[in-house]
Amino acid sequence: MLQFDEEINKQVSAGGVPSGTPSDGSFLENTGSKEPIHSIDHSGEGVDGRVRIEDKKIINGKADVNQLVPFKYKWAWDKYLAGCANHWMPQEINMTRDIELWKNPKGLTEDERLIIKRNLGFFVTADSLAANNIVLGTYRHITAPECRQYLLRQAFEEAIHTHAYQYIVESLGLDEAEIFNAYKEVASIREKDEFLIPYIETLTDPNFKTGDHVSDQKLLKSLIVFACIMEGLFFYVGFVQILALGRQNKMTGAAEQYQYILRDESMHCNFGIDLINQLKLENPNLWTEDFRGEISSLIQQGVELEYRYAEDTMPRGVLGLDASKFKEYLRYVANRRCQQIGLEQIYDGANNPFPWMSEMMDLKKERNFFETRVIEYQTGGALNWE
Ligand SMILES: [Fe+2]
Ligand SMILES: [Fe+2]
Repeated sequence: MLQFDEEINKQVSAGGVPSGTPSDGSFLENTGSKEPIHSIDHSGEGVDGRVRIEDKKIINGKADVNQLVPFKYKWAWDKYLAGCANHWMPQEINMTRDIELWKNPKGLTEDERLIIKRNLGFFVTADSLAANNIVLGTYRHITAPECRQYLLRQAFEEAIHTHAYQYIVESLGLDEAEIFNAYKEVASIREKDEFLIPYIETLTDPNFKTGDHVSDQKLLKSLIVFACIMEGLFFYVGFVQILALGRQNKMTGAAEQYQYILRDESMHCNFGIDLINQLKLENPNLWTEDFRGEISSLIQQGVELEYRYAEDTMPRGVLGLDASKFKEYLRYVANRRCQQIGLEQIYDGANNPFPWMSEMMDLKKERNFFETRVIEYQTGGALNWE
């Protein structure tokens, strides 16, 4: 269903090795952490003192993390380039129609207003959590410089997303205290964040280090929770809601912002899945039966929490959507995440009740779905040497 899914399938299904990995199997060797995270480490260099491709690893690598090339994880570099090509900023999008609609007492129903407020209530802090997870956590533990390069791009995109949600709140003149405190005050939002925080704290704990079986499994678990449950599941009820409003010609500026965010997030999720699959290939000992069972149960908990959030945001059904459709959708998405990381599907026969979501992800910057865009973003103004 995702624009980038097919790419992953190709990478993982062809012998289970994502593109850009050496075919000699050398990446399966786990050499243990030499902590090349903050300083220049020479232990991974060949006899000529140069970085060897076989010493580059997703975690616990010995090669100098400051040296991007020689490339080993080309898929990560390609995603970095794709992320840069998709660059956008919230102020590019015209919010005039949204403001008029929001201020018109008859413009939206109370249910629609509740959806928008709850939705922003989750997202205004969710992307800050995501950014902190990357900058203070994941980045420190990943020893592949191509992946770090992508994570830097991703971190900036999370900042843009937080900016976009703040920009919508400000444009509509919403009660900022109500929206920004929702993650503490609205139970269905708080429960999702409380589920995530222990996994984020594992990665951001300054004393946490990889290099042994238990720690490496903890890292893998946190990466899966982040990519498959947070970015890959917890965002999706919210995205469907706002994009469904846009399809009905309501809140088209907000919907366009969400469409760009959805495109970025589908790439984040797919990068995370590639990272997880590569880490598994390099450390197959981590993928035990018990571990797989634990991950399955976490994904089921994620589906329950997201379903509760759907019920809370749309108690009566609105926009042709109701919570039961979301139950089916979340099961469908959860099955997809399981399949992407090599787990058995959990929910038999779950179908996608929102097939239009796929086209929403297939957004080309030149093509503006909601036609609200007024300013062409300038990615590189000509330098003036005078
Ligand atoms: Fe984000
Ligand atoms: Fe993200």
